[in-house]
Amino acid sequence: MSDLTLSKRAQCIGDSPTLKINALARAMKKEGKPLIHLGGGEPVFPAPQSAVQAIIKKAESRKIKYSPSSGTPELKAAVAQYTLNNYGQKVGPENIIVSAGAKQALFNFLLAAVNEGDEVVFPAPYWVSYPEMVKLAGGTPVIVRPGRGLQITFEELAAAVTARTKAVLINSPCNPSGQIFDADFISRVVRLTEEKHIFLLMDDIYHKLVFDGNSCPNPYEYATDGQNLVIANGVSKVYGLTGLRIGWAVSQNRSLIGAMGRMQAQSTSCNSDLSEAAAAAALTGDQRCIEDLRSLLEYNRDVLLQELGQIPHVTVQKPQGTFYCFADFSRYNPDSQALSHYLLEQALVAVVPGAAFGMDGYLRISFCASEESIVQGVRRIKRALENISVKEG
Ligand SMILES: Cc1ncc(COP(=O)(O)O)c(C=O)c1O
Repeated sequence: MSDLTLSKRAQCIGDSPTLKINALARAMKKEGKPLIHLGGGEPVFPAPQSAVQAIIKKAESRKIKYSPSSGTPELKAAVAQYTLNNYGQKVGPENIIVSAGAKQALFNFLLAAVNEGDEVVFPAPYWVSYPEMVKLAGGTPVIVRPGRGLQITFEELAAAVTARTKAVLINSPCNPSGQIFDADFISRVVRLTEEKHIFLLMDDIYHKLVFDGNSCPNPYEYATDGQNLVIANGVSKVYGLTGLRIGWAVSQNRSLIGAMGRMQAQSTSCNSDLSEAAAAAALTGDQRCIEDLRSLLEYNRDVLLQELGQIPHVTVQKPQGTFYCFADFSRYNPDSQALSHYLLEQALVAVVPGAAFGMDGYLRISFCASEESIVQGVRRIKRALENISVKEG
């Protein structure tokens, strides 16, 4: 049976490095090892009460059935209100698709918009899934690397847009760098994509988790009719509800949203209606949990920066949002994969290698863990690095 080959698609898609680290960390903890996990992508906060109550109520109704494929009316109404409050955009149910996380919303977009060989342009460092998702959709990822620092310039992005470009994908604030693209950059990208008749997909999953009084520019402020603009978001990060698997995409372009809905209807049919009830309750319930989380993360970020500042030869750009810090450890080892394995074995600290985000030499350190874990984890890293000879700067 040796000729049972897998598809070319399956052969070109790698494991998710972040999910791999999570699985490894879970396994090491199960073995009883005192591992500190600074590689995670979910806040430790408990779920909002409103979401928990909604799940209980729904479960007790004993009606756990298929729900409308692109989202329940209640959840779509909550997403429409969120869009009005945060983007000043009036949208109706036909402008919204609710999916199994922002991840499926992004994937639905790619399936609906990208033809074989079309290019999707996005900056490095990037979220680990972007290149693989673009490839799965038959497209070609075009990665724009910053000439300096952690953020590309508008000119660097514009130079990568060609006649084959179908979409530009921007994540701000960015996982893993924590950097926000400013209003000048966003306004120029909106104008460029409109002029070139290409889609602009904004992955706004962290847009409320920003620090130091910063905010994320609203792309609709610079758009004409918003027909090429798609915003993806969800409840995973701001409400810490990663396990619900609820996200969404919103666009003024109803034919795009309709096509995304058809992709979803033929793959997952619909979302879990328990999860949809919980997400609607989180969006319409007490919103103080968002500020509680945001201010805790800002505090944790400062703790992390303080501790990282004690490690010589490590360069850090202050994260403006998210719960990740992307620090340059290349003086210790430019091979981030090898360095993260060394730290896992020698310091029992899990971090994610920068190579997974398209920039080797860096490590992504999460500050969504507890303060104690952040302090002890970075101190362990510091001790383990004392055994490595530093390369000339
Ligand atoms: C940049 C980015 N986009 C999307 C997602 C997916 O979020 P969700 O849990 O809503 O699928 C993540 C999760 O880590 C992320 O970091």
